Amino acid sequence: MKELTFRRASRDDVELLDVMSKAPHVLPNLGTDQPWDWPREVEASWQEVWISDLSATSSPMGVVVVLDAAADPSGYWGEVSPGTYAIDIWIADAAQLRKGYGTVMMLHAIDLCFHVHSAHTILIDPLAENEGAISFYQHLGFEVIGPRTFGADECIVLRLCRPDSGCD
Ligand SMILES: CC(C)(COP(=O)(O)OP(=O)(O)OC[C@H]1O[C@@H](n2cnc3c(N)ncnc32)[C@H](O)[C@@H]1OP(=O)(O)O)[C@@H](O)C(=O)NCCC(=O)NCCS
Repeated sequence: MKELTFRRASRDDVELLDVMSKAPHVLPNLGTDQPWDWPREVEASWQEVWISDLSATSSPMGVVVVLDAAADPSGYWGEVSPGTYAIDIWIADAAQLRKGYGTVMMLHAIDLCFHVHSAHTILIDPLAENEGAISFYQHLGFEVIGPRTFGADECIVLRLCRPDSGCD
């Protein structure tokens, strides 16, 4: 098990989150439809922003956002039923890519969605060109629903259903 420590981001982390979301291998993959507005994001009642630190050094290395898609007032996901959550994730430290940390971060986020928030469905929307991320989500059990355009972003929507939730 990769050693990561998770903590909820606060207003004190706004500058850090800004830097982490602008890393050259991250920014082009985050899409353009709704730019992250960190002072607002960390205090939004319908989502949780988590920072993952490498346990050995306490260095921040990644961000994972868990949000209640049905409660998001922006209506980004359109008409979705209560219990539909969405996840955004990135590893900001390029030296830590492809070491299994993304998997640990997703398992943390999936556990929050299904077991803390009782979500029945998790949605993800990588850019269609981000084939590596799509493979990553499929590796975790997400299934492709299909293409969808969010603003100017051509995305692929994937979903994961909580076992025994009746989500079809
Ligand atoms: C997507 C991301 C979070 C994956 O994290 P990661 O720690 O690199 O992924 P893991 O090491 O846990 O990968 C687990 C498995 O997913 C698949 N996978 C991960 N990255 C992949 C890639 N670039 N290409 C193909 N398969 C990939 C592989 O099956 C991998 O297992 P393997 O390394 O044993 O072959 C990370 O690449 C990232 O932050 N990318 C930049 C930002 C981004 O694209 N975020 C997603 C926006 S939707």
